[in-house]
Amino acid sequence: MKKLMKDAPCWCQSGKPYGQCHMDFDKKIDMYRRKFHKVPPRSIIKNEEQLQKMRESSKINVAVLDYVGEHIHAGMTTEEIDQMVYQKTTQLGGIPAPLNYEGYPKSVCTSINEQVCHGIPSSSIQLIDGDIVNVDVSTIYNGYFSDSSRMYCIGNVSPENKRLVDVAKECVELGLAQVKPWGHLGDVAQAINDHAQANGYTVVRDVGGHGIGLEFHETPFVSYVIKKGTGMLMAPGMVFTIEPMINMGTSDIYIDENNGWTIYTDDEKPSAQWEIMVLVTESGYEVMSW
Ligand code: MF3
Ligand code: CO
Repeated sequence: MKKLMKDAPCWCQSGKPYGQCHMDFDKKIDMYRRKFHKVPPRSIIKNEEQLQKMRESSKINVAVLDYVGEHIHAGMTTEEIDQMVYQKTTQLGGIPAPLNYEGYPKSVCTSINEQVCHGIPSSSIQLIDGDIVNVDVSTIYNGYFSDSSRMYCIGNVSPENKRLVDVAKECVELGLAQVKPWGHLGDVAQAINDHAQANGYTVVRDVGGHGIGLEFHETPFVSYVIKKGTGMLMAPGMVFTIEPMINMGTSDIYIDENNGWTIYTDDEKPSAQWEIMVLVTESGYEVMSW
C-alpha cells in the first residue's frame, strides 16, 4: 500500500489532504490487516462525490421498481415488464444496466416461482394468478450503477409461498441490521442464514451479492453462507448488495443450458429474493436502493 504524506491529496480523489481524509481509515485498515482480517481494497471505497452520483442512480432504480409495482398484474407477459423497465429507466435519464451486459438480452431479470434468478423476459411467459415473481432492476446513471430487486405476489398466492416471500424479506432486513463499520460480511451472512434455517428454508450458496458503484459487479462477492466474524471487513465508503436467494426446498440449483442465464431450483420448489443496495457509513449504514 502506497504511503502518503498527510498534506498530499488523498487516494480517494476527494481532493482533500490525506491527513484530513483517509489517514485514520488507513491506520485502522492496517491494524486489521496485521490481525489477518480480509480488508477491502482502496478501489472499492467511494468518496462523497461518487456516493452522490450513486444516490441519483439509485433514485431512478427505486422509481422504476415502484412503477413496476403499480402496473404488474396477472395476464401480463414478462416482455411487457421488460418494456416498462426500459421505458421508465430511459425516461428518467438512465440506462438499464442488464441490457447487453455480458450478452444478456433484456433490460431486467424476471424470475418466477422455481426460477432462482436471471429469468429472461419473454413474450411467451405470462404471469398467472398465484405466481411469485422477482423483478431485478439495475440502472446506470452518469456512469454510476445501482441495483435492487423486489418480489411481487400476483393475485392469490398460497400461504406457503407468501410466507417464503415474507421470510426472504425478513432475511434481508436482519442482514442489513448487521451492517456497520469494522464488522464482517459474515455477520450479515449468518443473520440471514440463521433466519432462513429457523423457518425451514435454505440459502443458495453459489450466487450472491456484490460490490457496486463504478461497475455493475465489483469485489467483494457477498456470500450468505459464511460464518459470523469471517469474510471481508466492512469499512465506511463500501457499497454492496444484500440479495440472498431463499429456497423452500433444496439449496441446489442448476442453470438453463438453453440460454446460459436462468437459474432454477433443483427440486423445482419455489425460491424468493429481495435485493437491497447498502452503503457502510461511519456510524452504521445508509440504504441506497431498496
Ligand atoms: N441484478 C442482477 C444482480 O443482482 C444482475 C444480473 S446480471 C444480468 O447482480 F445481466 F442478468 F442482469
Ligand atoms: Co445485484
